[in-house]
Amino acid sequence: MATPSITEIAYRTLQQSRSIAGLAHKEFSTRLMEWVAPDAVPSTETVPEAMFMELRRSLASLEDTDWQEAESGLYPKRQLFDQPWIDWAARYPRLWLDLPSTWMRRQKRNVRDLPDEASETLYPDYYLQNFHHQTDGYLSDHSAELYDLQVDILFNGAADAMRRRVLAPLLRGLRRFEDRPAASLRVLDVATGTGRTLHQIRAALPEATLTGIDLSEAYLRQANRWLNQGRQGLVQLLKGNGEQLPFADGSMQAVTCVFLLHELPAQARQAVLEECYRVLEPGGVLVLADSIQLADSPQFSVAMENFRRAFHEPYYADYIRDDIEARLSQAGFRGITGESHFMARVWSASKGA
Ligand SMILES: C[S@@+](CC[C@H](N)C(=O)[O-])C[C@H]1O[C@@H](n2cnc3c(N)ncnc32)[C@H](O)[C@@H]1O
Repeated sequence: MATPSITEIAYRTLQQSRSIAGLAHKEFSTRLMEWVAPDAVPSTETVPEAMFMELRRSLASLEDTDWQEAESGLYPKRQLFDQPWIDWAARYPRLWLDLPSTWMRRQKRNVRDLPDEASETLYPDYYLQNFHHQTDGYLSDHSAELYDLQVDILFNGAADAMRRRVLAPLLRGLRRFEDRPAASLRVLDVATGTGRTLHQIRAALPEATLTGIDLSEAYLRQANRWLNQGRQGLVQLLKGNGEQLPFADGSMQAVTCVFLLHELPAQARQAVLEECYRVLEPGGVLVLADSIQLADSPQFSVAMENFRRAFHEPYYADYIRDDIEARLSQAGFRGITGESHFMARVWSASKGA
């Protein structure tokens, strides 16, 4: 076996530290909740030892893939270290200060505790909720500033490694257009949130024209701060609904969509897939990443059930039983493939053969 390089050791050490930090945060915050707000403690199932071991194996395998794909040149190795560490460190105390209001919402089952501007004329009803019991739902700068840190802790430091799994199928799908200038390729990220996936895509496709769309202006403002300050290619960010994309038919060569489907009711899930199909040029590729599901990862059913119980995720129970491949097929997609990486399922599909 080859001796690992300094960069590989640094990457693996970083991931191990993030994993320990995530676990420690969850352990301490749960203890604090048990002490201060026992009524808010969700009734979750104990994770069996065998599943815990399997989770660790699956996380290690995700990191192996993440390292190998960087080493093969799919994306630069610096991506593996590229988080807004200083922002995150400065924001971390606010996560703790935010916890009591999160517990209060869970205790009172108050899932519509939103800012005044959360109008039903501006947003679909299913969106106007405190997903994850998050303060302000997706509708404030406060929420947008804490979101990435919360997700990274939730996934024990593996959130970006899971998002990067869209890159291999995306680049494979775009080979279809390799005779065109790279700058003419248009890639759309639906429900881009704070732009982490676009950040990864830009590293792998520095010349492509990138657009992100999301319903939350606050999240787009955060994405703009992180994506558009340096000297890399500008990313276009638009407020809009994935169910009615404001783009012409056939105007994109690729579409990505990460961690959206599980937060949509079934009908909206189908509508988003149909819109992705519509805006793709024939031959274009769609790459989705979202939670694993019961059919492909039955060994993690307790983790999925606990997630649903601990966080306000009103459509998750339906999502984990949903047949996404059938939905893709119904939308018109062909060449559908799916693979699992730790807690993420990644599908790719093309418009046409
Ligand atoms: C769990 S976050 C995922 C964000 C991002 N893709 C990521 O990887 O972190 C879900 C995002 O979907 C957005 N969203 C929810 N429903 C949407 C819809 N119908 N159209 C567009 N964006 C939507 C939310 O505002 C939020 O930013």
